[in-house]
Amino acid sequence: MAAGPAAGLRPAIRLHPATMDRYVVIGNPVAHSRSPEIHARFARATGETLVYERLLVEPGDFARAAREFFAAGGRGANVTLPFKVDAFDFAQERTQRAAQAGAVNTLAARDGLVLGDNTDGAGLVRDLTANLGLALAGSRILLVGAGGAARGVVGPLLALGPALLVIANRTRARADELARAFEPGGPVRSAGFADMGRGFDLVVNATSSSTHGEPLELPAEVFAPGATAYDMAYGAAARAFLDRARAAGARASDGLGMLVEQAAESFHLWRGKRPETAGVIAALRAA
Ligand code: ATR
Repeated sequence: MAAGPAAGLRPAIRLHPATMDRYVVIGNPVAHSRSPEIHARFARATGETLVYERLLVEPGDFARAAREFFAAGGRGANVTLPFKVDAFDFAQERTQRAAQAGAVNTLAARDGLVLGDNTDGAGLVRDLTANLGLALAGSRILLVGAGGAARGVVGPLLALGPALLVIANRTRARADELARAFEPGGPVRSAGFADMGRGFDLVVNATSSSTHGEPLELPAEVFAPGATAYDMAYGAAARAFLDRARAAGARASDGLGMLVEQAAESFHLWRGKRPETAGVIAALRAA
């Protein structure tokens, strides 16, 4: 059999960015998104060649901007606030977990159609179980918040087999509605802030309170001995909630690991490769 040209002897081809597979994160604001850095690290580590940029879109303009991106050959997008429901409506096909979440954070060009997926819940669960080492089967979980961020993680949390999942929200009616929607999926109850109960093994802050500069104040009794407090926000935004949780004796984690894990799920959907995440989480924390 004739040997082909040795790879090392081939002339180097410099790809023009326009010919590379293009990805974006769409949001508003989007300037501080760490997704471009995360996906650049994944691409380097897996040997994939792609471009990943930020795309700032005005409220009300999501569908037009997304249509233009995919019509120009874009391969995929991450979608962040406030467009996850717009992305759900935009997708021509949806994964089961996106349908369950009622929101889409990942779009992928597939056979001429745009597929919508939601990797947030899987990202949270992977951070909790693989990175933080929590065993949540049979546990008591308190999920605080009933907006889009909370909705996206209820199904994946119930799939872990907790003994009880309480959804507590400042506006009780929204917690009632969310719990009702997931009742067939497992032992889920709703609560207001006055009656959320006590002794939870895991307390997840899925409210947007910290981003409004109004740190969430929970009674210390919500934490069981050895409990973990988790804020889906990361960095400075999560600090006040996590400091209070630590003062109440809980172990505390922000959502940086979730951010990297949901990105890894998106990368896997797009490129068929699952990047290693621990080194990326450590690098982002150090930065
Ligand atoms: P997201 O998509 O980020 O979840 P959202 O749908 O606007 O955004 O929901 C925000 C969530 O944070 C809600 O659960 C909201 O509670 P209400 O339904 O009562 O508004 C919660 N939230 C926002 N600010 C809060 C605060 N200061 N204290 C407690 N909960 C707060």
